[in-house]
Amino acid sequence: MTGAAIAVKNLEKSYKDLHVLKGVDFEVARGSIFALLGSNGAGKTTVVRILATLLKADAGTAAVGGHDVSADAQRVRETISLTGQFAAVDEVLTGRENLVLVAQLRHLKNPGAIADDLLARFSLTEAGARRAGTYSGGMRRRLDIAMSLIGDPSVIFLDEPTTGLDPAARLEVWDAVTTLARGGTTVLLTTQYLDEAEQLADRIAILHKGKIIVDGTLDELKRLLPPAKVEYVEKQPSLEDVFFALTGEVDTEPGSADADAATTRKDRS
Ligand SMILES: Nc1ncnc2c1ncn2[C@@H]1O[C@H](COP(=O)(O)OP(=O)(O)O)[C@@H](O)[C@H]1O
Ligand SMILES: [Mg+2]
Repeated sequence: MTGAAIAVKNLEKSYKDLHVLKGVDFEVARGSIFALLGSNGAGKTTVVRILATLLKADAGTAAVGGHDVSADAQRVRETISLTGQFAAVDEVLTGRENLVLVAQLRHLKNPGAIADDLLARFSLTEAGARRAGTYSGGMRRRLDIAMSLIGDPSVIFLDEPTTGLDPAARLEVWDAVTTLARGGTTVLLTTQYLDEAEQLADRIAILHKGKIIVDGTLDELKRLLPPAKVEYVEKQPSLEDVFFALTGEVDTEPGSADADAATTRKDRS
């Protein structure tokens, strides 16, 4: 395969009279993390559903892994995995059983070994024998992401992976996403959170009123504004600093995903 992992050109989509996508263009490089940023209702899920072959566009083209989403839908489905906003984890099963089940459904050899490997990669080894119903929001979402990796998709879509999670759980998921990209997976994530795009993405595109209004690296986006003025202010802790200081919520037990999340997120590139 050559070229971009995802290429979208002039994509349009309406729901009856509601013209949601009015000519959306972007490309995602292989092995990168791309954030599609937009407020609620901007059309992010619509883009993801078209790319995942779940929805047909009215106009324009989209290709994933070099395969056209409408002409070659089956090949696209073999290339991707989609993790929606609502985790697909079975609460009655243990974390490990969830993973084994998906591996079995995909007819893979050694489902147990695949499960153990993913538990380790997502810092869930100790929790693996516990029912997923007892997991925290962050652990559950991490398990969900791990499940979506079974079968080695080269492109993964994460639609608002941290919406509804508390701050500590968001950090856990951010770390899981970074782990994905380190393994060479191309990640397209949608988010309404500016800080999430800032922390995770190699490139950020803002979807607004049906179009991509900017697309670039964080540095490129920052350069769109006039140079920063130098101002002298007292450094105040952010609300996030206060939250973590007071709750001590960041879990620092050895081997946990979030222990080093704060330090590794920025160091990746
Ligand atoms: N199946 C549908 N039928 C009608 N309108 C829809 C449908 N799906 C989404 N919409 C509308 O399209 C717009 C974009 O939705 P969506 O792609 O889910 O946005 P986002 O994911 O950015 O919040 C919203 O106004 C939403 O209400
Ligand atoms: Mg959405």
